[in-house]
Amino acid sequence: MNYLIIGNWKMYLTYAQAVAWAHLNKQELHSLARATNNELVLCPSFDALSDISKIIKTTGIALGAQDCAAHEHGAYTGQVSAKSLKEVGCSYCIVGHSEARHYQQLDNQTVAQKMVQVRKAGLTPIVCVGEHKDAYEAKETFHIIAEQLAPVLLGYKNSPAHEDPLVIAYEPIWAIGTEVTPDNEYLKAVYQFILSTCQEAGLQRTPLLLYGGSVSSENIQTLAKVKEIQGFLIGGASINFQKFKKIVELI
Ligand code: PGA
Repeated sequence: MNYLIIGNWKMYLTYAQAVAWAHLNKQELHSLARATNNELVLCPSFDALSDISKIIKTTGIALGAQDCAAHEHGAYTGQVSAKSLKEVGCSYCIVGHSEARHYQQLDNQTVAQKMVQVRKAGLTPIVCVGEHKDAYEAKETFHIIAEQLAPVLLGYKNSPAHEDPLVIAYEPIWAIGTEVTPDNEYLKAVYQFILSTCQEAGLQRTPLLLYGGSVSSENIQTLAKVKEIQGFLIGGASINFQKFKKIVELI
């Protein structure tokens, strides 16, 4: 595998639109997956997961969810368990996306609980971290990331052994959907900080590091020069198949 490239569809498409997207692009998805060394993952919303799983089954594209419950099962109205996500064909699950942190008032502890549930269910968690613009401007990025990662790293170490590395996506909130991206020197410093934080926490395996926030075909090659980056979390541009394809083909 070269890069792990994840399309986060957020709530951009309805169930019918998402399924139509998958049908329409099925052949091209298959060719794209065959032609690339990159691992490609699509993350539609919950309602479309089961049907999209069936449509893309033979394409070589993996499926991921955008969130999951922090608990295994029980009286959690409105929640979806990681085990269910596994049953409908997911192999990845995003946890702690900044939009989920914001709109669902998720704290760092809850994000860590979700990550543990994801691992328990046998899926690979993609844990998102990142700071707001004011924290960035106040040079508090490292502090924020350290706070976000602390319970996650503890939970990771204490949850059942798993072959997969922890996937950490750095998504500065000020870069999401804004067409602004951090410069490479800044990114390098952030990833080195994440790596040393993981090492100090006694993580056995080096985490897999992703970048997310306004990734496009215009900036992907510049971002890919940061050697610590092993993949990308792509929001807006992943809804348009041709844009997504172009990004995949450029790296
Ligand atoms: P964006 O979103 O690519 O639209 O900026 C990325 C994300 O939120 O994961």
